[in-house]
Amino acid sequence: MYTGFLHLHSLLRWVLLIFLLIMIYRAFTGRSSGRAFSDQDRKLSLFTMISAHLQLVLGFAMYFMNDTISMALSDMAATMKDGVLRFLAVEHVLTMVIGIVLITIGHIKAKKASTDHAKFTAILVFYLIGLILIVSRIPWPFMEVGEGRGWL
Ligand code: HEM
Repeated sequence: MYTGFLHLHSLLRWVLLIFLLIMIYRAFTGRSSGRAFSDQDRKLSLFTMISAHLQLVLGFAMYFMNDTISMALSDMAATMKDGVLRFLAVEHVLTMVIGIVLITIGHIKAKKASTDHAKFTAILVFYLIGLILIVSRIPWPFMEVGEGRGWL
């Protein structure tokens, strides 16, 4: 089951990154052209948030099933000195949770905003910061922590 979760978590990264890029592009162009915030914008923003929440649920399920992480959490002093263990047990989780919270805030702010300009601005700012945080803490194959992992 763990392997299935890991494959899904790995693939879903691309779904989330693509949704984030599409929404950031739409928010940027929508804001500068002054067009109306459409139902398609609302739906795409919702799908972006749902993919982020799915990653959160899958990630936490794996976090508590993973023996290396349990071991890392039992000796935090040693974990903080080991770059790979620190990345997996601390940096990945904390940064992703912050990124997902920002995406959620952006979606809610856009929903509540009274003007189309304010809706696009909320999505542009919160989704962009979320995207930067998320990209910075993915265990990419070219990183030490990503050794042996694939691009998919
Ligand atoms: C936007 C959110 C996230 C993205 C894009 C993301 C992406 C990834 C990717 C690409 C991997 C490597 C997969 C592979 O080796 O094939 C990974 C591993 C992992 N992620 Fe996430 N993740 C996210 C959020 C989370 C969260 C919130 C947790 C919660 C604790 C989490 C826990 C884990 C764990 C435990 C692993 C390591 C699995 C292993 O090496 O066995 N992830 N993540």
